[in-house]
Amino acid sequence: MNIPNYVEAKSTDKRSYKRVDFEFDKKIKNKYRGKKFFLKTYGCQMNEHDSENIEALLEYLGFEKVSDYYDADLILLNTCSIRENAHNKAFGMLGRIKHLKSEKKNLIVGLCGCMAQEASVVDEIMRDYRFVNFVFGTHNLHELPNILDKAITEDKQEIEVFSREGDLVEGVPVVRANSYKAYVNIIYGCNKFCTYCIVPYTRGRERSRLKEDILKEVDELIEDSYKEITLLGQNVNAYGKDIYEDYTLGNLLEDIAKKDIPRIRFMTSHPWDFTDSMIEVIGKYPNIMPSVHLPVQSGSNRILKLMGRRYTKESYLELFDKIKKIVPGCAISTDIIVGFPGETEEDFKETLDLVEKCKYDNAFTFIFSKRDGTPACKLEDKVSMEEKEERLQRLNEVVNKYFLENNKKLENKEVLVLVEGVSEKKKMYFGYSETNKLINFSASKNLEVGSIVKVKITSAKTWSLDGVLVE
Ligand code: 5AD
Ligand code: SF4
Repeated sequence: MNIPNYVEAKSTDKRSYKRVDFEFDKKIKNKYRGKKFFLKTYGCQMNEHDSENIEALLEYLGFEKVSDYYDADLILLNTCSIRENAHNKAFGMLGRIKHLKSEKKNLIVGLCGCMAQEASVVDEIMRDYRFVNFVFGTHNLHELPNILDKAITEDKQEIEVFSREGDLVEGVPVVRANSYKAYVNIIYGCNKFCTYCIVPYTRGRERSRLKEDILKEVDELIEDSYKEITLLGQNVNAYGKDIYEDYTLGNLLEDIAKKDIPRIRFMTSHPWDFTDSMIEVIGKYPNIMPSVHLPVQSGSNRILKLMGRRYTKESYLELFDKIKKIVPGCAISTDIIVGFPGETEEDFKETLDLVEKCKYDNAFTFIFSKRDGTPACKLEDKVSMEEKEERLQRLNEVVNKYFLENNKKLENKEVLVLVEGVSEKKKMYFGYSETNKLINFSASKNLEVGSIVKVKITSAKTWSLDGVLVE
């Protein structure tokens, strides 16, 4: 048994890790043939991609995927800790599973992902959720086959969570959710320790994958006719810093852009690590999509300091303008938190002012959520929930206004769309433009999913655009 602990998780001492190749334990291959699994994923793209690995590992054991948890022999929850509601959703699901388990005695239940890294969650599971058969963390996902097999054969609650990241494991198998777009991890973990954020505790310190491993994965995807790859990391702009003298995200983007892949995306960027040379590379290559997610969190310098964000409103705006200037037509999206402890009306107005200046193409807005163990959790917080909700609403009105205003500029213009499918309701094709806008469009001929087509925009809405295929 291994239980997580925050003192270990947040230490910043130099850690050593090896790059190792994943190996299957052949003894358990297909041991569970005929059994079915249901996997529920919460949270970000990183978790979605982890679930693609989990699926492949379960298939190796012989499990088959089902889409209704009532049909499953194994239910696994891949969880998220970022805000309280993500927690509540996972615990709500555990409550429903508890009922099911009282009817289906042989049902196996597992929990993994970011919540598994939290000592308080693991305590609660050991105390109040004894029916959960196994728990593993974000650092030992590759050990799932053996942990699951042990939980089943020994018939006792199996908790295997490491507080610190272990080796960097390459070659973990993957069942990709799509055949035309793929996620590629480039860096794991985060060293920034923004005061509100739990990620450095749940995902460990920054560890970059070797460029050779990344480029090989990209080559394989190109061979399999993938059209779009998204480079993933909690902070992709820190790529390479931990292992190379002078090979950064800019160099990696450039090496990938020279390959025959139509679309390259990357996320998420921390403004602190964004260099001019990265911006130049993004502007130089047409297959690097003109779309940057640049979380700002707040427009108040006082709050940014309390958040530990390492930039000011002014330096953020400078970076923002530079990207807009050097990358023509670049869409910029952001994340914003309202109601950080002690945020005053004046602080909040600074955020509104920043939004008025940036006129974002997209923005994810959140109310601050206290995360156990983070420094912001201890800050005095006098702002009422009502006031926070009111601020969120005011903020949303402004961001929505600009989504529509930006989209309107595309009316009667032609954009390139990667076709993702046909919507059930409207029987229209849908896909995303280069600037990552959702486009619904009609076409008088059949289109292949994964093809890139030209669409003329006929009308703009706040969160999507309608158009027709240009034939
Ligand atoms: N409360 C609210 N929002 C948060 N985020 C991260 N931590 C918290 C928190 N404790 C938001 C940030 C981040 C996004 C992924 O989630 O805006 O960029
Ligand atoms: Fe949630 Fe963050 Fe973990 Fe992603 S990395 S699943 S957003 S807590």
